[in-house]
Amino acid sequence: LSLQVMLVGDSGVGKTCLLVRFKDGAFLAGSFISTVGIDFRRPHLLTSSSLLLFQMWDTAGQERFRSVTHAYYRDAHALLLLYDVTNKSSFDNIQAWLTEIHEYAQQDVVLMLLGNKADATHERVVKREDGEKLAKEFGVPFMETSAKSGLNVELAFMAIAKELKHRSMKTPNEPKFRLHEYVNKEMKSSGCCKS
Ligand SMILES: *[C@@H]1O[C@H](CO)[C@@H](O)[C@H](O)[C@H]1NC(C)=O
Repeated sequence: LSLQVMLVGDSGVGKTCLLVRFKDGAFLAGSFISTVGIDFRRPHLLTSSSLLLFQMWDTAGQERFRSVTHAYYRDAHALLLLYDVTNKSSFDNIQAWLTEIHEYAQQDVVLMLLGNKADATHERVVKREDGEKLAKEFGVPFMETSAKSGLNVELAFMAIAKELKHRSMKTPNEPKFRLHEYVNKEMKSSGCCKS
């Protein structure tokens, strides 16, 4: 079973950091994934027996690469769409990314919206509720993540892995895996001020 998970979003939102965090996280200490080295000059390709993790660089302004990009979309089983909670324009561009995804990705692609850099409480300009609202509008699971603190990083990849695994098994009697519910139950808030 080879699954491709692609990270998309504007440059600087932390795609690489998230992937590196995941790759090095405790979650990976087991045998779930064995990684090959990351080559920063090219889109990342992390392979393992069961899950193929794939990172795409954003290609804004590089029209030459567009057709390649679109081919990658077609092959992706799951997409993690990122914005940076400290950068409004990365959030504003999410709609454009979603349009592109709807156009080029598989109909049943597993999609999740991630508001990254949630640790940066002082620089935050995109409220968590704004992310939630947008995600709800598009029917996409959402969570805030931090590659720096590790917040929800494992969960994001784990949720996608679970969803894809369930789909691939297709046992009729087993209850459907509910990605939204799983994410909402497991996710941790980045809120600083709950007493
Ligand atoms: C914010 O994101 C945009 C892309 O959406 C990028 O061009 C810009 O450099 C970023 N600004 C900062 C301060 O990181």
